[in-house]
Amino acid sequence: MSTAKKDVKRVTTHVLAAMKAQGQKIAMLTAYDYSMARIIDSAGIDIILVGDSASNVMAGHETTLPITLDQMIYHASSVIRAISRCLVVVDLPFGSYQGNSKVALDSAIRIMKESGAHAVKVEGGEEIADSVKRIISAGVPVMGHLGLTPQSIYKFGTYTVRAKEEIEAEKLKQDALLLQELGCFGVVLEKIPAKLASVVTKSLHIPTIGIGAGNDVDGQVLVSHDLLGITKEFNPRFLRRYAELYDVIENAVSSYIEDVKSSDFPNESEQY
Ligand code: KIV
Repeated sequence: MSTAKKDVKRVTTHVLAAMKAQGQKIAMLTAYDYSMARIIDSAGIDIILVGDSASNVMAGHETTLPITLDQMIYHASSVIRAISRCLVVVDLPFGSYQGNSKVALDSAIRIMKESGAHAVKVEGGEEIADSVKRIISAGVPVMGHLGLTPQSIYKFGTYTVRAKEEIEAEKLKQDALLLQELGCFGVVLEKIPAKLASVVTKSLHIPTIGIGAGNDVDGQVLVSHDLLGITKEFNPRFLRRYAELYDVIENAVSSYIEDVKSSDFPNESEQY
């Protein structure tokens, strides 16, 4: 029995397909914990991605590779407890789905069962086709991710724009069609030329969600800590900051420290 709030129309993969068909843009953001997910869901986001960027943003690792399946399940279940409307997609972490479709299925099932998430996301095309097929065959919705796929950073050697050359662009187009054919409900396109993203978007009936892929895609995704200005050092061209929360939080904490040191806090009305 679902515990979804009855008066809220939930975003499902079918709703997303209809949004693409009707030309409505899809807004997606990352979240990794209860408090942030609650705010993001109540603001009306369509999709929350429990991204493996948690490895960078929450744990301070240099790459997304170290995060484990158990850690992704912890983040995802915290997010699930907070939301009442959006679709929650969870990244399968590095090493949990590549190379062995049975392992991939087991990982996806653990995410769905133990966190209550609605879908999983995987990076890659043809190389992971068997895993994608097997996960979908178990009834688990899968979102693809092409272009700059951070789990392959040591193969790429750099976080620069992908698929600028014809051979890589052609492979990306074929991979997008393959993911659609296998039954994926959407594809993230990360850091690729806007023209290529536009061509891919027009070739698919499933939605494309861009990050650094221009405006001619079906939706956008950003890491919420980047959009909110909590991660100060990260300044790629595609990022638009909507707040400067690093400064807001630092100022608030400085004021608190000052008030404690000067015995200004707590005052009479703040005690029993
Ligand atoms: O892990 C993540 O945050 C992502 C987005 C950048 C698409 O995969």
